[in-house]
Amino acid sequence: VGSAYDHKVVMRLITYMAPYKRDAMAAMAAVLVYTVASVSIPLFLLFGIKWAVNEGEMWRLHMLGLAFLGVAVIYFAANYLQFVYMPKVGQGVLFSLRTHMFNHLQRLSPSFFHRTPVGRIMSRSQSDVLQLQETFELMVQSVADLLSLAGIVIVMLFIDWRLALVCMSVIPALFLVLGYWQRFARRSFMRIRRAIAIVNGEYNQNITGVRVVESLNRQDENLKHFDELNQEHLDANLQASRFSGGLQPIVETLTGISMGVVVVLGGTMVLDSALDWGVMVAFAMWIQRFFEPIRNLTMQYSQLQRAMAAGVRIFEVIDLKPEVEDAPDAIEMPPINGEIKFESVGFHYVPGIEVLQDINLVINPGENVALVGSTGAGKSTLVTLIHRFADVTEGKITVDGHDLREVTRKSLVSQMSMVLQDPYLFSGTVKENIRYRHEEASDEAIVDAA
Ligand SMILES: Nc1ncnc2c1ncn2[C@@H]1O[C@H](COP(=O)(O)OP(=O)(O)OP(=O)(O)O)[C@@H](O)[C@H]1O
Ligand SMILES: [Mg+2]
Repeated sequence: VGSAYDHKVVMRLITYMAPYKRDAMAAMAAVLVYTVASVSIPLFLLFGIKWAVNEGEMWRLHMLGLAFLGVAVIYFAANYLQFVYMPKVGQGVLFSLRTHMFNHLQRLSPSFFHRTPVGRIMSRSQSDVLQLQETFELMVQSVADLLSLAGIVIVMLFIDWRLALVCMSVIPALFLVLGYWQRFARRSFMRIRRAIAIVNGEYNQNITGVRVVESLNRQDENLKHFDELNQEHLDANLQASRFSGGLQPIVETLTGISMGVVVVLGGTMVLDSALDWGVMVAFAMWIQRFFEPIRNLTMQYSQLQRAMAAGVRIFEVIDLKPEVEDAPDAIEMPPINGEIKFESVGFHYVPGIEVLQDINLVINPGENVALVGSTGAGKSTLVTLIHRFADVTEGKITVDGHDLREVTRKSLVSQMSMVLQDPYLFSGTVKENIRYRHEEASDEAIVDAA
């Protein structure tokens, strides 16, 4: 968990927001109007008391009633629009991000998937993306909270700076508490993340390896182990709720203290005729509105931290370059005749651990070749190199005299077929699986192939 505002992540998210610019603006505007309305309501009350009640003017009271109604309608509309437009942007960003991620993962080299456990890729494309769901909402909300905080402070200082300063004297205490809370909450959220990752990993492993588990009768041991991990997850969550649970009452208490100060001090001033009682009432309302954004900001802070961390993880994946990329001047592979040539080919997955060394081999069109060797000798590796799952690290492979790196991968691979060691069935029927590469294949052709 890092900072709550990561400029790089935010900037890149904004590029995803581009298609929803107008919705984002609408959401922003709605939030602004809402904030202004919310800050101004006590002001109306103040005027009502000062200008109508104190002066005993009934018609002014009626006017104010109407104005109040107007503000209430605006309040309603702004709030409604905010809840319509914000998810529109947020969900839109998620939509584009998911599509982008899916497409990107399809292009990455097989060796990436060999190195990276499926669970980790899944967690980035699922839970990390989900973490981002509320980011836009949070960002807008935080801006609104800061604005309403500033608005309230300014209005209070403007109306009566003495009373305002007294009310705000509890703020340092609040920040102290919030700062303290932040530290613990942060640690506690990290603990939850770790715990859930471990629980998910265990699920993943056990389900993938369920046949081994059953054949070795490991169920009881595994359950016991899982129970421990799950318990840690539970404990972490309970600890977190104790922290969050503590926050609300503390803020409420401070609000109460501040309110008491206004009543006692403000009341004394009213009795001394040093203060209009309308101001006192308005202050009481502002105080209530004042603590809410502060509490929101504290909560949003940790949520934003999590979102930024998720953003970093997502863009890490999106920034991965496929290891095999077409050369800028790559040509289309002409129809293949079938002469395959390995010229002093060397290859490694991990630098320093050579898998293939100095391979020279010529396979003529129409020729059948079998590679025989002990397990791990590099037979599969050699074949996948022709398919350009990876590029050779030494020498070159040519097909009909074309170096594989000089043609586009697509034009090459579309003229080849490869049957893998571990067959994988996609969901659907056997027929659909046979048809996977050629969706237009006729039923007869499928029967033939089967
Ligand atoms: N993606 C990879 N990343 C790192 N090392 C790999 C990767 N794939 C294979 N290897 C290693 O390369 C070597 C050759 O593996 P390869 O799968 O080509 O052997 P093989 O001859 O096909 O074996 P088998 O008979 O078991 O199919 C092995 O030592 C293997 O551990
Ligand atoms: Mg093999």
